[in-house]
Amino acid sequence: MTRKLYVKSYGCQMNVYDSNRMADLLAPEGYVETAAPDDADLIILNTCHIREKAAEKVYSELGRMRQLKDDAAQEGRRVTVAVAGCVAQAEGQEIIRRAPVVDLVVGPQSYHKLPDLLARNERQETGIIETEFPVEDKFDFLPAPTKAATRARGVTAFVTVQEGCDKFCTFCVVPYTRGAEISRPVEKILEEVRNLADAGVREVTLIGQNVNAYHGEGFGRTFTLGQFLRRVAEVPGIARLRYTTSHPRDVDDDLIAVHRDLPQLSPQLHLPVQSGSDRILGAMNRRHTRADYLRTIERLRTARPDLALTSDFIVGFPAETEADFADTLRIVDEVGYAGAFSFKYSPRPGTPGANMSAQVPDEVKSERLARLQAAINRNAATFNARCRGITFDVLLEKPGRLPGQLTGRSPYLQPVQVMAPSHLIGTMASVTITEIGTNSLFGVLAERPRIGPNSAQPLEALGA
Ligand code: 5AD
Ligand code: SF4
Repeated sequence: MTRKLYVKSYGCQMNVYDSNRMADLLAPEGYVETAAPDDADLIILNTCHIREKAAEKVYSELGRMRQLKDDAAQEGRRVTVAVAGCVAQAEGQEIIRRAPVVDLVVGPQSYHKLPDLLARNERQETGIIETEFPVEDKFDFLPAPTKAATRARGVTAFVTVQEGCDKFCTFCVVPYTRGAEISRPVEKILEEVRNLADAGVREVTLIGQNVNAYHGEGFGRTFTLGQFLRRVAEVPGIARLRYTTSHPRDVDDDLIAVHRDLPQLSPQLHLPVQSGSDRILGAMNRRHTRADYLRTIERLRTARPDLALTSDFIVGFPAETEADFADTLRIVDEVGYAGAFSFKYSPRPGTPGANMSAQVPDEVKSERLARLQAAINRNAATFNARCRGITFDVLLEKPGRLPGQLTGRSPYLQPVQVMAPSHLIGTMASVTITEIGTNSLFGVLAERPRIGPNSAQPLEALGA
């Protein structure tokens, strides 16, 4: 019997990865993915708890699901609604109390139990909640995707290598929702990457909440992320490698060296600083100063001069003054980010920050956020403008916005639109940038496309 599954992902890339793994897990049970919830028999919302807004989105979506479930019931169809991810982990029982439409709740470390939970649901059991951190490793129970499923997902893929976090920044829920930091074994990840490459994946992004704390076991020893990246780069067919998200404290010498040594590794690094003020960094328990961070960047740029840096910022952390915020604005210009995400501080229940005195009023947060975003946009525009006229490798990923156009990404992670025939999807093309848009770059094919390591001409080398 085939049934239809609709999975909606909120939040980070790890949720995107987990959503795919849930679909892979349910495929042998007869579930086929559908792009819309309307005709689904099973709806899974894979949720994010990072900020209040993210968590609230889930409840408004559940309101819509109630209508959908009622309509289906009128047609004699039973729809099952499951909440997975970090809201599930953080709120458990509370979700079913607030939204009785929900049939089952499953946390991010126990979704391998879904087939069993669904069977219980079919036996009319209600209020099923599974949010324990199980002793077994969920990855040992998750089947590999079929080649067809991988192909349908495109030529780029995420691979979780590390999960959880032991850093306990005072604003963050991750240590509570994702649990203690664990690294997956080297050989198992390599096998996953080889399978992806065999199915046509050309770019792999290694993901983890604190990815550069990676310390996986393999071949009788422990690997750091740098050592592991060297192994992943040996997998035939993988033309481009990235990793995210890194903590500034865990950037070691070898990780810096791989940015110099590995042609497959994109010259792009997401290295969140959160704030430019030492006082606030201390209150956030970030375990690094502004100077530590800048020194790390300097070392990275010595290894790879054209490295594009991106960051996350939080404005309005408790007790943040105008002077602290000015330090944040300054660091944006000092680093010259290629882009950044910025957020208003959102007090999260159970985190130390939520109980700190001197919470910053929302109007102040909004005003600072606007100024910060202007500074980030200015830096991003400068970075993009430097790309005009240069030729670099673009991995062509999918059809573009206009007919005859393909969309890909530059080595620096910028979206690039280029007129190219669709059979070139999945190839690395040499593209000359002719125009700079607000959200993408525009370019023309420069020479015969090929699959191979990045051959970006460093921006520095061009005197940009
Ligand atoms: N409020 C606002 N932003 C937050 N982030 C994490 N926790 C909070 C919070 N409580 C941001 C950080 C992190 C990104 C994923 O989300 O900048 O790097
Ligand atoms: Fe959101 Fe963090 Fe959970 Fe990812 S790990 S879904 S960012 S709360």
